[in-house]
Amino acid sequence: MSQLAPQLRANLESARAQTDELFALLDPAALYERPVPERHRLIFYLGHVEAFDWNLFSQHALGRGPLHATLDKLFAFGIDPEPGRAPADTPSDWPTEKEVQNYAARVRNELDSALDGVPGHLLHVAIEHRLMHAETLAYLFHNLPYESKRGPAPAAPIERSLQNTWIEVEPGAAALGKPRNNGFGWDNEFDLHFVPVPAFQISRYKITNGEYLDYVRSGAQPPHFWVDRNGKWFLRAMFGEIPLPLDWPVYVTHSEASAYAQWRGASLPTEAQFHRASERSLPVNANFERWDPIAVDAGHNGGTSHREPAQMIGNGWEWTSTVFGPFPGFERFSFYPGYSADFFDGKHFVMKGASPRTAACFLRQSFRNWFRPDYPYVYAGFRLVNNP
Ligand SMILES: [Fe+2]
Repeated sequence: MSQLAPQLRANLESARAQTDELFALLDPAALYERPVPERHRLIFYLGHVEAFDWNLFSQHALGRGPLHATLDKLFAFGIDPEPGRAPADTPSDWPTEKEVQNYAARVRNELDSALDGVPGHLLHVAIEHRLMHAETLAYLFHNLPYESKRGPAPAAPIERSLQNTWIEVEPGAAALGKPRNNGFGWDNEFDLHFVPVPAFQISRYKITNGEYLDYVRSGAQPPHFWVDRNGKWFLRAMFGEIPLPLDWPVYVTHSEASAYAQWRGASLPTEAQFHRASERSLPVNANFERWDPIAVDAGHNGGTSHREPAQMIGNGWEWTSTVFGPFPGFERFSFYPGYSADFFDGKHFVMKGASPRTAACFLRQSFRNWFRPDYPYVYAGFRLVNNP
């Protein structure tokens, strides 16, 4: 076996540090909480990010048996149940924190001495899998009571609203996916292909809390992240409540975004339209820089160009109208066959871009994310398109 690239070893270390730092924010008692009904208790994730690596490397590279037969299996996979089918386990169904910490330490120890026997693409899978959880854990932690977690107080918003405008996008071919043998990508990112897209208009900015507030005042339900305090709207930021920042992107479900678009007489962009509109975009507010959003016109391409939509990559994922499905030439990974294929069920929608808690490696254009249309916990907003 060839010597593993030192860069990948360092990336695995820094991904581990990222998840370790996250768990260090928690009051230990919160580990047995289930802040989101459709997901496991937090203790699961402490074991899962390690068991995933062990199962992947031991079975698909190292030819090793179980490290701990019960825990390898208990922590193997997360869940994404149908609405109304939330799990019903109790805290006592799970091992103690000490047992899980010991298991985690053993996994890291065993794997670190064997990493040279692991091919690079499996290392990429482990690193990116862990970093995806660094983001999805932030969604879960977001729903814990503030006294269960420690972190920086959110920035106080500046009272301002701002005018969204339309950007014209020329007709052209959207490049979706990525070519094989050109860097790591997940199974659903292949193959590279081109989709013709007629001219359309897209919102310059993500739809803001201020814009969405008009809709709520007309009778729509408020988003999950808002809370009414004596007739005034507040945002439930990660580490505290703040008066609703009107110039920040609104985070909503796919269903809410679609209904808002309809209310405005517009549509959500397709995945191909998103690609056309984001071809020249640079990341803004991503890679763990902050816990919360910033104004939709902040950052290097926020307020300068009147011809480019702002913040297509960062400051919140964006919903598309595209149902998650395979690209032409899709092949599942033999070592992780369900990663995408389990979700090609017509019940998940593609999200593009990135959130403040999305790691740098996912800022590549071909990366695709997907969620159920009514799952309200993700850092996802949207913008509108006008189709001629
Ligand atoms: Fe996972």
